[in-house]
Amino acid sequence: MLNFELNLPTKILFGRGSQRLIGEAVKPFAKKILLHYGGGSVKKNGIYDDVTRSLRESGVEFVELGGVAPNPRLSLVYEGIKLVKDENVELALAVGGGSVIDSAKAIAMGALYDGDVWDIYEKGVAVDKTLPVATVLTIPAAGSEASPSSVITNEKKKLKLGYTNEITRPVVSSVNPEHFFTLPKNQMANGVSDMMSHIFERYFTRTLNTDLTDALCEATLRVIMRNALILVENSENYEAWSEIGFCGTVAHNNSLGLGREQDWASHGMEHELSAIYDVAHGAGLAVVTPGWMRYVCDTDINSFVRFAVKVMGVDGDFRDPNAIASEGIKRLQEFYKKLGLPSTIMELGIDDKNLEIMAKKATRASFGEETPIGNFRKLRWLDVFAIYKSVFQ
Ligand code: NZQ
Ligand code: ZN
Repeated sequence: MLNFELNLPTKILFGRGSQRLIGEAVKPFAKKILLHYGGGSVKKNGIYDDVTRSLRESGVEFVELGGVAPNPRLSLVYEGIKLVKDENVELALAVGGGSVIDSAKAIAMGALYDGDVWDIYEKGVAVDKTLPVATVLTIPAAGSEASPSSVITNEKKKLKLGYTNEITRPVVSSVNPEHFFTLPKNQMANGVSDMMSHIFERYFTRTLNTDLTDALCEATLRVIMRNALILVENSENYEAWSEIGFCGTVAHNNSLGLGREQDWASHGMEHELSAIYDVAHGAGLAVVTPGWMRYVCDTDINSFVRFAVKVMGVDGDFRDPNAIASEGIKRLQEFYKKLGLPSTIMELGIDDKNLEIMAKKATRASFGEETPIGNFRKLRWLDVFAIYKSVFQ
């Protein structure tokens, strides 16, 4: 196990009605806040009304900025920063999913940053101050409600870049599983794929002696899969959404990644698909992840045998570890199919024109200096290109 620090400062308000506590929860941080939301789902399903009522009852003033698109855009972040500065806002409250939360994190950092907020993402500037961020989660997926990360798309440059800084973890997040009842089936599936990938990126490691986090990863994956299948049949099952909601937060607040080297190559490969083609993050991950698994599994076949047996329930002949590993990956892909997720780049509606460009962008080879991605196995652009090709059709 590697050395680690553990500091999970986000207060989670979990369960029915928790969105109505948000006014009192943000009050100690701010007199006036930015209420940030997406394309309108929160107005249709009543979450907006509950949140604004809670803010009014607690005497918290707010200004609003809606319109965050999935794969949140830099242009709206600039608008938000201007609004926050003009209105002397002291906290950003995101009511939505990963896209709204990430946009709020960028606005909150950008409001206190002297330069261009995009530099923070592109140059990895180590900022040391941000406005506090709070969230009312409406889709369990990205884990941004308790993560120190955000991902912003620069639509002009066609770049989608992530940034991680502990100061951006939200101070408080409401997670009410009832909010997830209105999610379309494909959004539920995208979210499940994303949170499973957050676990895979940590689970597949070359670090040894990580028994506790190995077992926690495996248990969380099993709970996600069991409950996702319940939701395919009944999208209003509160208990199943509770499990999935809780798992989504745990999958990415890094409690499952402590003391171990992490990978993150699949996320790197997916971000290129989203940057150029604006595909849903979880759908892109469902395509690239099995391809990555097949490409790297012989690096440490035992890790994939363990995954197949302990997570995917494979019972095979241990004298043929490759067959067990392959069966595990095949079962994962079958599970994704049951959720209606795509398994090829073509199913995402993408042609093969940009595969090489994406491989070079993912490894920064197109910006001069190639930087291999991933840690389970270091991948150069030719490896990434091979993986894209292997899942093309
Ligand atoms: O915009 P509205 O109308 O609200 O609709 C949204 C959006 O179209 C809809 N939706 C959300 N809650 C709903 C709902 N529809 C009906 N009922 C509800 N209760 O769902 C759509 C997708 O929302 P989005 O916020 O984009 O989803 P998600 O949470 O999957 O976020 C994806 C973004 O998060 C980034 C991804 O790259 C992507 O940009 N990620 C952020 C991470 C982080 N900050 O730590 C880590 C992740 O790996 C990920 O990269
Ligand atoms: Zn993700």
